[in-house]
Amino acid sequence: SSSLSERVDAALRDVQDFPSPGILFKDVTPVLADGQLFGDVIRDLAERRRGSIDLVVGIEARGFILGAALAHELGVGFVPVRKAGKLPGAVLGLTYDLEYGSATVEIHEDAFVGGERVLLVDDVLATGGTAAAACELLEQAGAEVVAFETLVELAFLPGRERLAGREVHSTVVVP
Ligand code: PRP
Ligand code: MG
Repeated sequence: SSSLSERVDAALRDVQDFPSPGILFKDVTPVLADGQLFGDVIRDLAERRRGSIDLVVGIEARGFILGAALAHELGVGFVPVRKAGKLPGAVLGLTYDLEYGSATVEIHEDAFVGGERVLLVDDVLATGGTAAAACELLEQAGAEVVAFETLVELAFLPGRERLAGREVHSTVVVP
């Protein structure tokens, strides 16, 4: 029988030239649409972290899907990291560079009491800019980032280097 990594890899849909020319987009929606596979992914994430985290943090937007399911499976709470201007309360924000331009991620400033062990979750690790900014933001907000979990890691981009010194785990590595 094939491994979870192979099953997820086989389910990913490659979309050429999205969102812009020259980009090969890894679409995770077929993984989510397969109830058995989605469940197996969440159970695998949960078994790796059970008992070792207090909260799951998901990155808008696709990190919400995996993160909320995982938090529920673990019986812990969920905290969103959102794009700028979406959270209603007082926020902490961090702006980071993209290939062209910049982006900002935000979190509620009172999301943590302090010292909570959090797992950060997203669907894809590409350049690592988003995940690195989210990790920094979580620490500024008082959390302890136990690890970053991504469904897919694009190993031809420097995401892992960008997160040097942090635990990074991916279900599928695209070479
Ligand atoms: C994608 C992906 C990650 C991020 C990875 O999100 O879901 O969050 O990019 O890229 P990076 O490692 O180069 O920072 P996107 O910004 O497309 O938005 P979405 O999740 O809201 O669709
Ligand atoms: Mg995203």
